[in-house]
Amino acid sequence: MKFQFTKLKLAELDVDLVAVQIFETSDKQITFQKTDGGTDLDKALDGALTKLLQAKGFAGKEGESYLLPTFCKIKPRYVLILGAGTKKSFSLESLRKNAGRIVTVANEYKAKSAAGVIETKTVGGSAAPERVRAFAEGIEIASYNFDQYKSKKEKLPTLTTIHLVSGGNTKPLQAAVEQASAVAAGVNFARLLTDLPPNVLNPTTFGKRIAENCKGKGITCKILGLKEIKAEKMGGILAVSQGSLEPPAFIHLHYKPTKKSKTKIALVGKGITFDSGGLNIKVREMEAMKCDMAGAASVAGTFLAMARLQPDVEVHGFIASSENLPSGTAFRPSDIITMRSGKTVEILNTDAEGRLVLADALDYSLQFKPDFIIDAATLTGGVLYALGELYTGVLGNDNAWVQKVIKAGKKAGENAWQLPLIQEYKKGLTKSPADLANIGVSKAGSITASLFLEEFVGGTKWAHMDIAGTATLSEPIAYCSKGATGNPVRTFLYLLMDW
Ligand code: BES
Ligand code: ZN
Ligand code: ZN
Repeated sequence: MKFQFTKLKLAELDVDLVAVQIFETSDKQITFQKTDGGTDLDKALDGALTKLLQAKGFAGKEGESYLLPTFCKIKPRYVLILGAGTKKSFSLESLRKNAGRIVTVANEYKAKSAAGVIETKTVGGSAAPERVRAFAEGIEIASYNFDQYKSKKEKLPTLTTIHLVSGGNTKPLQAAVEQASAVAAGVNFARLLTDLPPNVLNPTTFGKRIAENCKGKGITCKILGLKEIKAEKMGGILAVSQGSLEPPAFIHLHYKPTKKSKTKIALVGKGITFDSGGLNIKVREMEAMKCDMAGAASVAGTFLAMARLQPDVEVHGFIASSENLPSGTAFRPSDIITMRSGKTVEILNTDAEGRLVLADALDYSLQFKPDFIIDAATLTGGVLYALGELYTGVLGNDNAWVQKVIKAGKKAGENAWQLPLIQEYKKGLTKSPADLANIGVSKAGSITASLFLEEFVGGTKWAHMDIAGTATLSEPIAYCSKGATGNPVRTFLYLLMDW
C-alpha cells in the first residue's frame, strides 16, 4: 500500500473514498469533529451527512458503518462514516478495525484510493504517530489476500493508495507508517507460510523460504538438515519425523543489533508442516493441520520485520520443523526416546508431537544463554476450548515475564490470557518407566503440555504461547481475513521495539 501525506481538505482530494470516524456520545447527537475533517465535509455537502446519519439513527457505535455516495458534489465518490465507539473506549485496536473496514469497503466499491484525516492532538491517550502506526497496520493486514492458487482471480483488490491529511509535521508520521508496514510485512509473511498447503511447504521448503526472505542487516540464518539434527542428538525431532519421507529441518536465525545489547531473547517456534497425529491418527479436522507450523512462521515473520525495524536487542530464533505422519517407520505409542537434553520420554500419544520437537529446540537454545525465552506453538486443542480464536493462552515460569508478553500483545492488538502452570499436574507426566511421558493423565491438556516444556528450559525465564486457537480464524474479523492470522508476530515485535 502507498501512503501519501497531504495538507488538502478531504472534500478537495482527488480520491475515490474518504473516511470519517464518529464517536458515540451520550446525547446521541451526530457531532462531526472539526479536526478530523467531518465538519468541512458536511458543509461541502450542504449538511447532507448530518441529515442522512440522523435519519438512519447512526450512533457512532464501534462496528457501525454507513457508505454514502456524493453524487459528484465533491471530488471523492464516496464518504464512508465509521463508528468509533465512545471516546473513553477508544483504543488503537478500534483504529485497526476501522482501517480494515475501509479496505473491505474500498475494494468492494472498486476504489483505488481512500483518504482520512489524522488529528494532530492526542486521542484516547494515544499520540498521532502511535495512532498512524495502528491505522497503517490495519490497512496492510487487511490487504493480505491468499489467492495464488486461484486460476481466475475474481475479486482482485483495487485499493492501492491511502492519503493521510495532516496539518502538522509529517516526519514522525512517516516513520510510523514505515514501522507499520514492516510489522505488517512480517505478519503477512507468517500468514502466507501458514496458508501454504503442506505439499508445497515441507520442512525443507520452509527452511528455504525463510533463508531467502529473512535477511538483512545483522541477521544470519543457519539450517541444520537430517545429518546435523542426528549429530545434535535431537531425539524428539528425529522421532516425530521418522515416519515421513520428508526430512526434518532445524532453523537458527540470529539478529545482532549494531548497538551492543545487554539482553538476549530466544524465540522458539513449533514448525510441524502437517500434523496427521501420526499412528494416533486424527479422526477430526485433519485438514486444519497445515497450520501446525504457525508458531515457527511467527518467528520467521518477526525476523523478516526485524531486518527493517532494527531493534536494540539481540534475538535468536529457533525453529524445529517436521511432518508428523503414520507409516511403517513412524514412531509408536510406547516407544521410549532420548531427547537432546538426555532426558528419556515415553511416547503415549504420537499426536502430542509438538512438545517433542519444541523441547529439543528449547534445549538447543540454552547454549546461547538467553535471558528470556518465548515459544509460540499450536500446541493443544484444549486452549481452543478454553479461550477460543481471539485469545492466546500464555503460561510460564516467571510471572513478570508472562505479564510483559501479555502487555505487549495487548498494545499490538493480539490478545492473550495467562493460564496457571499447576505444578501438581506434573505427577501425571512422571508416572512412567521413562523420565517423562509425553502426555499426562490430567484433563488440563494445555497445562500439562506446558509442564512438559518447562522441563527443558533449565530455569531460564520462559513464556509459552499456545496459539492453537489464534493462529487461524474460521470467520474473518474487521482487519483479518479467514485463515492464518500471523499471531503472535506483532506481540514479538512490539516487545522488541519497546525494549
Ligand atoms: N497440533 C495439535 C494441536 C492443535 C489443535 C492445533 C487444534 C491447532 C488446532 C497438537 O499436536 C495435538 O494434536 N495436540 C493434542 C495432544 C493430545 C494428543 C495430548 C491435543 O491437544 O488434542
Ligand atoms: Zn498433534
Ligand atoms: Zn501438532
